[in-house]
Amino acid sequence: MAPTRPHRTLLAVAATGVLVAGLFGGAGSAQAATTGPCDIYASGGTPCVAAHSTTRALYGSYTGSLYQVRRASDNATANIAPLSAGGVANAAAQDSFCAGTSCLITIIYDQSGRGNNLTQAPPGGFNGPAAGGYDNLANATAAPITVGGHKAYGVFVAPGTGYRNNNTNGIATGDAAEGMYAIFDGTHYNGGCCFDYGNAERNSRDNGNGTMEAIYFGNIKVWGYGTGNGPWIMADLENGLFSGVNAGYNANDPSIGNRFVTAVVKGQPGHWSIRGGNAQSGSLSTFYSGARPNVSGYNPMRKEGAIILGIGGDNSNGSAGTFYEGVMTSGYPSDATENSVQANITAAGYATGGGTGTGPTVGSTISLRATTACCTTRYIGHSGATVSTQVVSSSSSSAAKSGASWIVRSGLANGSCVSFESRDTAGSYLRHQNYQLYLHANDGSSLFANDATFCPQAGMNGQGNSFMSNNYSTRYLRHYSNNVYIASNGGSNAFDSSTLWADDVSWVVTAPWTP
Ligand code: AHR
Repeated sequence: MAPTRPHRTLLAVAATGVLVAGLFGGAGSAQAATTGPCDIYASGGTPCVAAHSTTRALYGSYTGSLYQVRRASDNATANIAPLSAGGVANAAAQDSFCAGTSCLITIIYDQSGRGNNLTQAPPGGFNGPAAGGYDNLANATAAPITVGGHKAYGVFVAPGTGYRNNNTNGIATGDAAEGMYAIFDGTHYNGGCCFDYGNAERNSRDNGNGTMEAIYFGNIKVWGYGTGNGPWIMADLENGLFSGVNAGYNANDPSIGNRFVTAVVKGQPGHWSIRGGNAQSGSLSTFYSGARPNVSGYNPMRKEGAIILGIGGDNSNGSAGTFYEGVMTSGYPSDATENSVQANITAAGYATGGGTGTGPTVGSTISLRATTACCTTRYIGHSGATVSTQVVSSSSSSAAKSGASWIVRSGLANGSCVSFESRDTAGSYLRHQNYQLYLHANDGSSLFANDATFCPQAGMNGQGNSFMSNNYSTRYLRHYSNNVYIASNGGSNAFDSSTLWADDVSWVVTAPWTP
C-alpha cells in the first residue's frame, strides 16, 4: 500500500493536539480528526516537505503507511499504518507479522506526499557494515514505547545503522530557508559521528563546509559542544557540529537528557537557530539564534537537499541514538509555530512502556535458563573467561552454581537496558567479542560498556526474555551447540541459523543458583 497524501482541506488547524469531532461525514458520523505537527507548520506558512515517523501520523488526516518492516523468516514485508487518521502506529500489526521471528525497518515513509522516503543508506565517504557497503537497517522491535497509551516502536540506531534519501523532492538547497525538528531518546546516544536527522549531500560524501544542515544529537566533542557532559543538540553543517556561533564551546547550549527530547534546528540566509525541550512536557527553549558560524564556508550555505537519519553526511556511521518522529519544512518556521508543534508533541503523550520493563530487575541476582526443548536444564554460566550453557541442578558444585548466577546491573552503555555482572567474579561482566560471549573484567571503555549491554524484550518464542545487543541491534543472546553468542536471525555464521532461532534466543529469568 502506498502512503496516502493528506487531505489538507479537511484539516482542523485551530486546536493543538485536541480532538475535533464531526469534521468528516454527515450527521451521526463518529469520525474525528486530530491536528498533527505538519498541519501546524502549514498554517504557519512553512509546510512540511518531509515527515517521518514510526510512531504516529504527523498530519491529522494521514491514514497511509508510516513504515515498512521485513521479517527474517521469509523476507516478506508489511506496511504499518496508523490505528486511525492522524493516530498512533498499529504496533499490534507489526507484532503479529513479526511473531516468532525478527523484523527490520526497511522504509520510513514520507507522509508529506512528496515521496521523500528513507531507506537503507548507501556507501559514501565511508562504507557501512552491510552488504555492498550499505548501512544496517534498524531492528523493528528495539525501541518500544507508548504514545497516548498506545504501543509504538521507534527507530533504534546502533552504530552502523543508517537511512537516507539522495533523490528528494522539495527539500531546501543552497541558502534557502528550512526548519526541522525531531524527537529522540535523550538517554541513548554516543560520541561517534554523527547521529543526525536532516539535510545532507546527495552523493553521500563530504562536499565541504555548508553542504549540510541537520540536527545532531549526542556527546561527541570533536567539533562543537556545550555545557556539562552532553548530550547536546547541535547543527551538523558539514565538517562541523555547531553549538552556537563559535566552533568548539558555546555556553548557551546545555546538556539535554530527557527520556524524550524535542530537538530543533532551522536556517535561513545569514541566520540560524538551535532550540530544544522535553518532549513530554513544557516548552521549547532557544539555545542559539543568530549569525552563521564565524568560520568560513558556512555563509552562504550550500545545502544539497538529501535527507539522512542516524549517520553523518559522508555516511560516517559510528553513532547511536533513537528516533521517533521528525519533519523538514520549506521556509524558516517562526518560534510561535514551533511552540505550537511542541504543544502538539507533549499532548501526544510519549511515554516509556510498550515492552520495556519486562526484563530482570536491576540489583537482583538471577540465573538465565535456556528454553529450547533440548536444553531446558541449561543455564548461562562461566568457567573463567569461557561462557557456555551448562546443566545446573541442586546437586551441582558450588562453583557451577555461582558460575551460573548473575547480578543484574543497569546497562553499562544504556540505562534502559541491563548488564550481567558475575556473582563470583566482582567487576567482570558478560560481554560479546567477535559475536561470542565471554566473561571479562570491565576495562571502563565505551566499547566494553556497549559489548556488555543487553536490552530485554519479550521472549521471541513467548517464554521469558530475549536480550538484544546494545551495539549490534539485530543480534540477540543465543545458545548454539551449548556456546553463547549474539546472533542475527539467518545471518552468515553457523550460530545465526534460523533453525530454532526463536527458541535459542529466549531465556527464562530464574531465581539464582547462588543468591
Ligand atoms: O560535520 C560533521 C561530520 O563531518 C559530517 O556529518 C560528516 O559528513 C563529516 O565527517
